[in-house]
Amino acid sequence: METIILKIDPNNIDLNKIKLAARIIKNGGLVAFPTETVYGLGANALDEEAVQKIFKAKNRPIDNPVIVHIANMDDLYMLTEVIPDEALKLASKFWPGPLTLLLKKSELVPDITTAGLDTVAIRMPNHPIALELIKESEVPIAAPSANLSGKPSPTTAEHVIRDLNGKIDMIIDGGEVTFGVESTVLDLTSEPPCILRPGPITIEEIKTIIRNVEIHPIARAEKPIETIIAKSPGMKYRHYAPSAELIVIEGDPLKVPLKIQNIAEEQIKAGKKVGIIATEENANSYKINNVKIVGKRSEPRTIAKNLFKTLRELDSENVDIIIAEGIEPTGIGLAIMNRLRKASGYHIIYVS
Ligand code: TXA
Ligand code: MG
Repeated sequence: METIILKIDPNNIDLNKIKLAARIIKNGGLVAFPTETVYGLGANALDEEAVQKIFKAKNRPIDNPVIVHIANMDDLYMLTEVIPDEALKLASKFWPGPLTLLLKKSELVPDITTAGLDTVAIRMPNHPIALELIKESEVPIAAPSANLSGKPSPTTAEHVIRDLNGKIDMIIDGGEVTFGVESTVLDLTSEPPCILRPGPITIEEIKTIIRNVEIHPIARAEKPIETIIAKSPGMKYRHYAPSAELIVIEGDPLKVPLKIQNIAEEQIKAGKKVGIIATEENANSYKINNVKIVGKRSEPRTIAKNLFKTLRELDSENVDIIIAEGIEPTGIGLAIMNRLRKASGYHIIYVS
């Protein structure tokens, strides 16, 4: 299949181009598009065959449900059975934005979209291209991240091209995303509500709207948790993983660099090609060639934005081993560490 690559300026949207993309969605095809978090791979969420194609193109296990993206509140009512008060309060505070709400689904949502679960994950993305595409398509759009299953999520159109060129109908290139990690997933069907996946909207922010919120143990996990029930099936798969081996060094930020330098030297001696993922504050501590600065400890949002891009860069340089600095797992740092730990297959070393 030939994939059409269409550049659209998010600050000056060409509606004719959006209409081309919307026609593909209406006809049951696949369009990758930018959101504020990561690029998504979209299809008509109400069309079983179209959603099936997403799973095929990504090679995604069919027991992992996808998020449904909406552009107006009417669609929230259409897609769900019950809307608790909390959902409306959260939506009015954080939508459009990087918060996904898990609610009881309505009959309209096909089983393939929710992997047979009776809940549906919904969000209104805060990106002009995504919103216009949903409006012009006149249907809610199911969209997981637009990467091959298991790979780091795409934060630029180039990443999507690398993974999905020739497998989908269209890729909209709307430039680099804002956040770089996927939305926060909040389950509103459990009591109390529970964060299944940490993301750009932090627990502290959610607590300003609903007081009682938990973080699911898997979201904080520092080793694999075997007994994950099918709450959010995506949690059980190895994710975000580069091809290279990845080791994460956590603990005292003053001691982490020395540990990393020592491991790097050992590995280089053993003939391995090594890359280091460093924070700007510590970058000068490393005396090897391939050091990538991912962002600033003092501004963890810069780390979120560059994390997946940096993993992909090191992969394209064919390094054998990546050693990454861990950061404090609070605020958006929890989302960053959740992705890094998972990507490493929980290969974590602590220094204290
Ligand atoms: O920021 C994002 O959320 C991006 C952009 C494209 O919107 N999307 C994204 O989708 O990250 P995906 O499919 O890569 O991750 C969706 C996560 C998975 O962990 C999945 O298991 C969970 O949400 N999920 C979706 N529907 C669910 C449901 N009904 N019950 C439990 N978990 C669900
Ligand atoms: Mg994904």
